[in-house]
Amino acid sequence: MRLKDKVAIVTGGSSGIGRATALLFSSEGAQVMVADINEELGRETVQLIKENGGDAVFQRVDVSSPEQVQAVVKATIENFGKLNIMVNNAGISHGEKKIEDVPIEDWDKVVDVSMKSVFLGMKYAIPEMLEHGGSIINTASVAGIKGQKLLAGYTAAKSGVIAITKSTALEYGKHNIRINAIAPGVIETPITDEWKKTPKWPILSTANALRRIGQPEEVANAMLFLASDESSFVTGTTLVVDGGTLLGK
Ligand SMILES: NC(=O)c1ccc[n+]([C@@H]2O[C@H](COP(=O)([O-])OP(=O)(O)OC[C@H]3O[C@@H](n4cnc5c(N)ncnc54)[C@H](O)[C@@H]3O)[C@@H](O)[C@H]2O)c1
Repeated sequence: MRLKDKVAIVTGGSSGIGRATALLFSSEGAQVMVADINEELGRETVQLIKENGGDAVFQRVDVSSPEQVQAVVKATIENFGKLNIMVNNAGISHGEKKIEDVPIEDWDKVVDVSMKSVFLGMKYAIPEMLEHGGSIINTASVAGIKGQKLLAGYTAAKSGVIAITKSTALEYGKHNIRINAIAPGVIETPITDEWKKTPKWPILSTANALRRIGQPEEVANAMLFLASDESSFVTGTTLVVDGGTLLGK
């Protein structure tokens, strides 16, 4: 049990990487707050956790809303008495578009949900960790490292997540709050369902050294490492989980 007696919030916990992370954290002993805008699937995640003998609560949240993110942290303390791990994982992309065609509101939404959310998650979680320390994990993307054409807004947001991670790691190390990011490559989740319909999918899904798409559980394993004491000397880093995508061909 690598997260025994720990309490974790997982945003985006209703689906994909977030759900796999919530399930794994619970199986390693953590009590989990599943926080997501999708209530139906979020309650399903909680149900799955309970069926496995774990302890979890769902709270609906729009991660771009300061009031709602603050309320999730408050509800976590009320339910479980403390907060040790914050996974700022919820994120969205805009459809592939040249920058001149990206609607202003799409840009704002992607940046708010994928990057401002990370600021908000840390703003409200960190005060609960100052006394006893903690681990914060922010989901970035390989797109935020290498850039990706036609996805400027998403790429900017994910680069921003990596930058926020480094700055705050420097600020809070003295409080034993470790802050890291994870940069997944192409992972099979509902986010990739749209990509599957495009002709480039067979290439996209195998464009890495391992020649296959990743699974949410493989990202969750990296989340577990960063959440647990096994990574006690790791902070400010971005752990790439991409099957070798960044190596190129
Ligand atoms: N799947 C990939 O290939 C891939 C690659 C790199 C990075 N990522 C990142 O991984 C993270 C998880 O994505 P996923 O692939 O598991 O996709 P997903 O669609 O399965 O999960 C995203 C979750 O975020 C939730 N969400 C969306 N907007 C929200 C909001 N405003 N407030 C609260 N919750 C909201 C959704 O309801 C969903 O449950 C995202 O940040 C994504 O950008 C995914």
